[in-house]
Amino acid sequence: MAGMMVAAGATVAAARRSVAAALRAARLDTPDLDARLLVGEALGLDHAGLAVAAARVLTADEARRIEAFATRRLAHEPVARILGRSQFWSLPLVVTRDVLDPRPDTETVVTAALAAIDARGPRRAVARLADLGTGSGAILLALLSELPEARGVGTDTSLAALGVARDNAGRLGLAPRAGFVACDYGGALAGGFDLVVSNPPYIRTADIATLAPEVRDFDPRPALDGGPDGLDAYRAIAADAGRLLAPGGLIVVEVGHDQSGAVVALFDTNHLARIGDPYQDFSGHRRAVLAQRQT
Ligand SMILES: C[S@@+](CC[C@H](N)C(=O)[O-])C[C@H]1O[C@@H](n2cnc3c(N)ncnc32)[C@H](O)[C@@H]1O
Repeated sequence: MAGMMVAAGATVAAARRSVAAALRAARLDTPDLDARLLVGEALGLDHAGLAVAAARVLTADEARRIEAFATRRLAHEPVARILGRSQFWSLPLVVTRDVLDPRPDTETVVTAALAAIDARGPRRAVARLADLGTGSGAILLALLSELPEARGVGTDTSLAALGVARDNAGRLGLAPRAGFVACDYGGALAGGFDLVVSNPPYIRTADIATLAPEVRDFDPRPALDGGPDGLDAYRAIAADAGRLLAPGGLIVVEVGHDQSGAVVALFDTNHLARIGDPYQDFSGHRRAVLAQRQT
């Protein structure tokens, strides 16, 4: 494969064009954007730097680096994974193979939680929060960035994921207010949380094979697999939420597009009072379910 798309002696602009053409031919979604990001990463140049360097000729090393990145993208590896970084709630996050690449849809959980908190009074009323299945730390760190007086804990069964989340907290200056615990959802936590959030695995096991290769082959399986009906995590979390939450405490969970009814029912069964209708994401899917512990 080496040298098929980009050869030493080509210009930067020509390399971008040929990578974009190869990605387009493979029917990837955003070939021009991906080519710009991958060529930029290989050369250590941002958008403006790439434009300035357009007519520069590539060294053999540079051509090899571009080729290697393009080859990974052609194998459906998402650009965020190739770059090793992503963005969530405008926060820069490191992502590795051990964590889910945080999705824009998940920002709905943060928006919904903040709206519910603001509807009740000052944000400082939320002193303690927990993020169950924290992955890269995305939701926990976004909320800590918005709730400057809160402390939070993220849990995960993946030690590697917890390492990534801890590093992300450190890079964002949030480590003093963030703790990380290896356990099954809230299993190792004492109660008293004002807010519990979670984006747990919720894909039905049988549906995983049908997902896009970018997800199926690159997001960690434990981050996806929600059991036979996709609801295993919600059952565990709903059963434990009454213990974890302070009286009146809020719980906000992300759900799959057809799961909000089932999750509301699970919360009901566990004496968690639903707050409002499920919160919709930008595509109009019911994405976040909110409830509170009855006092
Ligand atoms: C869908 S990912 C969400 C990651 C992150 N919260 C986000 O929104 O980007 C689910 C996370 O739950 C973790 N997980 C799976 N089973 C778990 C369990 N029993 N207890 C705690 N975490 C679990 C996975 O390792 C993964 O990091």
